[in-house]
Amino acid sequence: MPCRKVILTSETLQQIVQRLSREITSAFEQLDSPLALVLLDGAKYFAHDLLTTIDLPLDVDYIKASSYCGTRSCGTVTFDGDRPLADAIRGRHILLIDDIYDTGLTLSALMKWLKTCEPASIRTCVLLEKQHTHTRQVSVDFVGTPVEDAFLVGYGLDYNGQYRDLPYIGVLSEERIQKNH
Ligand code: IMP
Ligand code: MG
Repeated sequence: MPCRKVILTSETLQQIVQRLSREITSAFEQLDSPLALVLLDGAKYFAHDLLTTIDLPLDVDYIKASSYCGTRSCGTVTFDGDRPLADAIRGRHILLIDDIYDTGLTLSALMKWLKTCEPASIRTCVLLEKQHTHTRQVSVDFVGTPVEDAFLVGYGLDYNGQYRDLPYIGVLSEERIQKNH
């Protein structure tokens, strides 16, 4: 097993998804034509389960964002928000979905760009929030669960492109990290 411990089993992840889905459904059910924006690649698995569980018509679009080099945030965020996407966002109620709120650099950069697109409202949802001081404070509306400050893999979270397909989330073993350097 590539992890030194499992912190969220597949069953626990599905319970979290069910709860978030109920919270999001009640927050969005009165809103006209909401748009979910999924941050790739990390949130792909989580967003798939969440969006297929939410009992509302939601349009879905994707933004590819990255800030991680190996097991550390590089400190700069790159993403591919383009003109057609900005036009699709204008006047819409947005649900921004990411896998993890770690330093907060990704979410804060995305929020800054989203605001320039003039949506009707923005709400954010993350599966995990790391328990440490975030470099950027972001107000996250829906949080799946707090997690320890360790490098996690599985259920979409990767280490240099590996381990996304694990059905659970765990703390990557040190020897796996060294092997790849
Ligand atoms: P932030 O910008 O530091 O908040 O981190 C956001 C992105 O870094 C997340 O969307 C993840 O893709 C990635 N990330 C942060 N922590 C981890 C981790 O423990 N494992 C894998 N990816 C992570
Ligand atoms: Mg990510």
